Amino acid sequence: MIRSMVRETQVNVQDLIFPLFVLDGKGIKSEIHSLPGIFRLSKEYIMKEIEECIKLGLKSFVLFPAVDESLKDKTATYSYHKDNFYLKLATKIKKEFPDTCLISDIAMDPYSIDGHDGYVEKGKVINDLTLPILGKMAIAQAQAGFDILGPSEMMDGRIGFIRKALDDEGLTETGIMSYTAKYASALYGPFRDALDSAPKVGDDIPKDKKTYQMDPANKREALIEAELDTLEGADYLMVKPALHYLDVIHLLKSECNLPIAAYHVSGEYAMLMAACKNGWLEYERIMPETLLAIKRAGADVILTYFAKEFALRH
Ligand code: PBG
Repeated sequence: MIRSMVRETQVNVQDLIFPLFVLDGKGIKSEIHSLPGIFRLSKEYIMKEIEECIKLGLKSFVLFPAVDESLKDKTATYSYHKDNFYLKLATKIKKEFPDTCLISDIAMDPYSIDGHDGYVEKGKVINDLTLPILGKMAIAQAQAGFDILGPSEMMDGRIGFIRKALDDEGLTETGIMSYTAKYASALYGPFRDALDSAPKVGDDIPKDKKTYQMDPANKREALIEAELDTLEGADYLMVKPALHYLDVIHLLKSECNLPIAAYHVSGEYAMLMAACKNGWLEYERIMPETLLAIKRAGADVILTYFAKEFALRH
């Protein structure tokens, strides 16, 4: 009783955002082998999943699309096509569950034949040719009903570009959760399995994302990114991954006034699940301890594959 009375940090279900992998088609529920317990879901399963989560008090979701290879191209045109299943799904979710907070992903990788977050030309990701594509994606997502857009592609100047594109269309109420300090981490592997979105191999394709994602060695650079995003109009600043970067979460929380989000990413989840499955760690203890540590470091909200499991217990 005394221990809980003097507890400094609490994780609440309202602090959590649940990532969902969505795909087109009917009746599909396929587990991602490197993310045990997490599935790619088609529409009817997504609606059911969201309904179940809402009953548990979990109302914030970030949606990631797994796109059929035949719909991918150089410039990610499917990302803003009017028949895009991801956009139509967002509209349906907001119509049936208006009380949810729906967050999008803005990046080219699920739609790009090169598997990069930006536009590739002559072996390079070209920042300024990517921005107009992101702008179109942002407008389409906001019009589809997403409450908050999540630019995860780390192009320079994208927050200002997207904010202006939205405002020019009168979409002033749509917020932006910027992936501010997103590191070129080895922890995204299972996510790329889930979406089949890893960079493709080829002479004219950069082999990794290091020209746009941050160097894991850098902390002060996160402050520069945070300052730029704030000035450009972000509503949230995100640090990603979470556990290896608790110092960065702490730093942004102390230096910035916007809410701080942290993404406990696929590889972090996979490591814990693998250890728990082997009986080497105790799931019921390590799962809440992990979320608590991220919150204690300074995160206001946490994107986590544990969200529903946590909600089930609270
Ligand atoms: C890419 C994107 C990635 C994640 C979210 N958006 C992967 C990447 O940068 O290659 C990773 C999330 C996770 O690992 O859980 N736009």
